[in-house]
Amino acid sequence: MSVTYNIAIDGPAGAGKSTIARAAAARLGFVYVDTGAMYRAMAVYFLRKGIAPDDEAAISAACGDIQIDIRYEDGTQHVFLNGEDVSGIIRTEEVGNMASASSVYAAVRRKLLNLQQNLAQSENVIMDGRDIGTCVLPNAQTKIYLTASSHVRALRRLRELEEKGQTCNLLEIEQDIIERDYRDMHREIAPLKQADDAVYLDTSEMTIAQVIERIIEIARERGLKTD
Ligand code: DC
Repeated sequence: MSVTYNIAIDGPAGAGKSTIARAAAARLGFVYVDTGAMYRAMAVYFLRKGIAPDDEAAISAACGDIQIDIRYEDGTQHVFLNGEDVSGIIRTEEVGNMASASSVYAAVRRKLLNLQQNLAQSENVIMDGRDIGTCVLPNAQTKIYLTASSHVRALRRLRELEEKGQTCNLLEIEQDIIERDYRDMHREIAPLKQADDAVYLDTSEMTIAQVIERIIEIARERGLKTD
């Protein structure tokens, strides 16, 4: 059995995980696995069914009707909900908030764990999320805890939304980020926290390029062979 090299990146919303992980994966020829997209795809299902985020019984029951698949097209991850490619509709605040609220339940997390672990067993992956280093890939060779101040994360999010032509309020975005962090860090199952063997990277004062270099350097220190 060939052993794959796995890089786990965890951190709060808006820390730049997906941008960094995608670029680092492209540099290393790794597969980028965005686990948040899987929780978001499940959230789309709950929203369409009109299920309330605090209705654990209904959410758990609905899990039995959901099939999530991941496919790659030109190196880009697409997430499928019961055969439908929902990648284009999962990046809204509404879906993000439902994903954060519904991911506290055991049935939701159980649904995705095998899929995530199987991907990492068959490919060299950079996988990002909240519980990758602590629960999903406890044996990942490299673990990074990526964060930035809530103010910097809110500013980054504001710019992203403005680029899409949306007008938003910085304070509201920061408040939303703080609430999401709290929920993700304080849930009972698989809360967001730094794994003991993860490297803590605060990106508030770093450029994207610097963060990518640093992660590749850490992976090399931890046995990754690159040219
Ligand atoms: O990374 P993201 O914003 O796309 O994730 C959306 C939500 O999904 C996040 O607020 C919590 C949940 N999530 C999780 O519980 N575990 C993961 N590994 C990834 C995301």
